[in-house]
Amino acid sequence: MRLFLDTANIDHIRHGVRLGIISGVTTNPTLISREGKISYKELIQEICALVPGPVSTEVLAQEAKSMIDEAREISRWAENVVVKIPATIAGVEATSVLSQEKIKVNFTLCFSLNQALLGAIAGATYVSPFVGRLDDIGHNGIELVKEIVEVFSNYNFPAQVIAASLRHARHCIEAAKAGAPIATVPYEVLMQMIRHPLTDLGISHFLADWKRVMG
Ligand code: E4P
Repeated sequence: MRLFLDTANIDHIRHGVRLGIISGVTTNPTLISREGKISYKELIQEICALVPGPVSTEVLAQEAKSMIDEAREISRWAENVVVKIPATIAGVEATSVLSQEKIKVNFTLCFSLNQALLGAIAGATYVSPFVGRLDDIGHNGIELVKEIVEVFSNYNFPAQVIAASLRHARHCIEAAKAGAPIATVPYEVLMQMIRHPLTDLGISHFLADWKRVMG
C-alpha cells in the first residue's frame, strides 16, 4: 500500500517526504485555495520538485475540449504531474483522449462503481473514490472502495484505486483492509495514524525509571 498526502501545503509536504512514507500528493481547487492567492502553476511545480512520485492537480474546465486543453497545459508543468479529471461524461471523453496521449489522469470525484468503471475503461491511471463524502450522506464509502478494488482485479484493469476523502485514522485502517493500493490522507490524519497514548506513556515511564536509577 502506498500513502499520498492530500494537501497543497508546502510545509506539510516537506515533513511527509522527510518521514520517507509519502510517495505522492493529491490536491484539489479547495486545497490550493487554502494556500492563499498564489500562482497555481508555480505552487504545483514546487510540490512536484519536492515529491518523489505523482502529484495530482485538477482541471477547472467543465467541457471536454477545454478540459483536454487545460490538461495538456498542466501536463507540461512537471514530469510527475497527474491531471485530475472529474467523473462526468465530459470527463470520460477527456480521459479517453488524454490517456491516448499518455497523459496521466486521476479520475476524481468518483462516487459509484459505474463511474469508476468508465474511468478505468477510458484509460485513467488512477481512480479516486471519495470515502468521507459518501459517509457524509449516509452511504458507505469503504464498501465502494472494496467493490472497485475487486472489480478492477477481476478484469486486470491497470487503473490504480486511490482511497480519497479519508477523514480520520479509522478510514485509513478500513481502506487498507479493503485492499486499496493507495490512500491519500490529509496531514492531520497522517499524524493521527502514528499517535498512541500508550506509546507516549510508555516513553515517559521508561525515561522516569532510567532517571531514578542513572540520575
Ligand atoms: C482527493 O483527491 C481529494 O482531494 C480529497 O481526498 C477530498 O477530500 P474531502 O472530501 O475531505 O474534501
